[in-house]
Amino acid sequence: MYFGVDYYPEQWVFPFGGTAENPEAQWRRDAELMAAAGFNVVRIGEFSWGLCEAEDGQFNFDWLKRVMDVLGEKNIQVILGTPTAAPPIWLARQHPEILPVDEHGLVKHEGTRRAVCLNSEIYWNHSKRVVEEMARALGDHPQLVAWQIDNSLGGNFTEAAFNADTRRDWHLWLEAKYETIEKLNQRLGLRHWGQVVTAWDQMPMPMAAPTQHNPALVLDWNRFCSDTIVQFVKMQADVLREITPDRPVTTNLRALRHRFDHFDLAEQLDFVSIESTAAIKTRPAEIACEIDMLRSLKKTGIRTPDGDSGFWVMEQKAGNVNWQDVNALVRPGVLRMFTYQLISRGADAILFFRWRQPRYGTEKFHGAVLPHNLETGSRRVFDEIARIGEELKVLAPTLKDTKVSADVCILYSHDNEWALSQANQPSKLFSLREHIQLIYNALHDRNILVDFARPSEDLSKYKIVFAPSLHLISGSDADRLKLFVQNGGTLISTFNTGLVDENNIAADTGFPHDLTDLFGLEVQEFDVLPAAEDNLLTFKGAFQTSHMHPARVWCDLINPKGCQILATFGKDFYAGKPAITMNPFGLGKAIYIGTQSHQHFYHDLVAWLRQMIGLHPLLKVPENIEVSMREKDGARVYFLLNHQPTPVRIQFYKPMHDFLTGQNIVANYDLPPHGVLVIDEHPDVKSAG
Ligand code: GAL
Repeated sequence: MYFGVDYYPEQWVFPFGGTAENPEAQWRRDAELMAAAGFNVVRIGEFSWGLCEAEDGQFNFDWLKRVMDVLGEKNIQVILGTPTAAPPIWLARQHPEILPVDEHGLVKHEGTRRAVCLNSEIYWNHSKRVVEEMARALGDHPQLVAWQIDNSLGGNFTEAAFNADTRRDWHLWLEAKYETIEKLNQRLGLRHWGQVVTAWDQMPMPMAAPTQHNPALVLDWNRFCSDTIVQFVKMQADVLREITPDRPVTTNLRALRHRFDHFDLAEQLDFVSIESTAAIKTRPAEIACEIDMLRSLKKTGIRTPDGDSGFWVMEQKAGNVNWQDVNALVRPGVLRMFTYQLISRGADAILFFRWRQPRYGTEKFHGAVLPHNLETGSRRVFDEIARIGEELKVLAPTLKDTKVSADVCILYSHDNEWALSQANQPSKLFSLREHIQLIYNALHDRNILVDFARPSEDLSKYKIVFAPSLHLISGSDADRLKLFVQNGGTLISTFNTGLVDENNIAADTGFPHDLTDLFGLEVQEFDVLPAAEDNLLTFKGAFQTSHMHPARVWCDLINPKGCQILATFGKDFYAGKPAITMNPFGLGKAIYIGTQSHQHFYHDLVAWLRQMIGLHPLLKVPENIEVSMREKDGARVYFLLNHQPTPVRIQFYKPMHDFLTGQNIVANYDLPPHGVLVIDEHPDVKSAG
């Protein structure tokens, strides 16, 4: 199992390290300390373009080779970042047209990372050249185990730029998609406000304008910007695969926050790497949700350096960050606990960001494994991480080839989120992420494992699929949902589903479009509610309720066409009309929830589904203990995390085996504050059973 750190050796040369005679001496000391922390891999190089190509065409990778040699002496492997996230100053001075133009037409200037327009041909060609040169110079280095392409793509709000090169690519993209101007005008609904065009080059980019651009155009713009990023990654991946075919490629992703299609991008990678800010947040279910989303980006065709089939954590924040208003220290034990949360949800490698707090630059007070003062400064974080390293050595053989396997899936698509995040929606109070989180929390709190998928994926392996607010759904995705239910699956959809097609055009065949037969109903109108003006749900039949459940944010006015009614609205002119329904379809069931409610409702919903479908939680543990599981050939490894600052008593009904201590646990176990337990059933019990 790989365990390591993100390292910027270029920042630790004389006079910030080493001596005048031996300016790079600090690297050897760093490598010794890294080995002492248990690290066996480092990531380097992702911001080093200006140092590797100090002048146009003058390449020098020798210093990176020397770093890799030094690391090799301690058996530390290397992930090399291609340096394109930080173009050199000379490139911008030579070709100012590569600098990104914002939606107001203003240039963002050079002097930081990401100061480029990704559609710039000049930048693209220079990027390709530096990647080729780097791969040729360092690609056969024995320490190199994988490539990281660029860094945190789309970060610092750089998903889109409105340059002349972008305009050219945008027009070509539209032409490739729509083929004729007639189709373009028609599919994007450009007759609205008479914004029809007669030539491709008349099509505007959605720059700042007196009011909102056409939503169909904006959705296509998001897709175009996403395709640009994906193609940029593909260009680099192709170069790297040609020169170093046996070194897998990856890149570091944030939790679906940047505006590109993360699923599309993951298709270009051999394995997915993620950034985690877990330790600085407080809501375990939100972090778990983000991890599950990122794990789900790539489910097949995974190729990692050591043959595992999970994802890597390329940047686990080792301590405080520097980009919040108040950047508090991470409390003792919390980093360890959240590192286990990542492993419990499928991570096969952990690298901490970053090795040492730098003395200069924008991140000089960002947390790190080691502080500015190496000699007498705090070793608190280092010691906690070294402990994790020791433990992972013990766990590695057990975790080898184990995977997270879920019976439940939540559908998510970027297209849908892009459509929903535009202006002029029925209600600003609706948030897709909040809606997803309510459902996710209920599953998480009952220790049920969850995958995410786009609606176009094969869903046949899941027992239950939640499809929260698929406002935008294509005809073929609707067919897949029907197939899933037809074959025996249980689908739960909600309000704000099937209002527009893939072109962001409202349907005229009844909402949810292409799905009215699946749910046995038609949504004829929808009402949206101001904050604190809830409606009420009145339940019928089998659905057990633990609380009064409000109807919030949105209420669908449903005309039932054969579905069973599970709950109705309690107030207003649609009192008594269906709010929650269920429809048998083929061998399965299609459930429709025509409103949003509070968290208790989703807990009740999951309890009801569990009973109906026969879905079992992983382990019975007290509330607030998070459980996850990795398995291989029926062998199961459970992870229990105590997110509380107080101990929690857990009662086991079978003897268990504690992997970290080698002890057996019988009956009661007190999990300490922020404690972690990695267990399986005691082998004797298993063989007896
Ligand atoms: C990441 C980025 C790193 C560093 C870090 C700070 O998104 O990849 O280079 O800036 O944030 O928390």
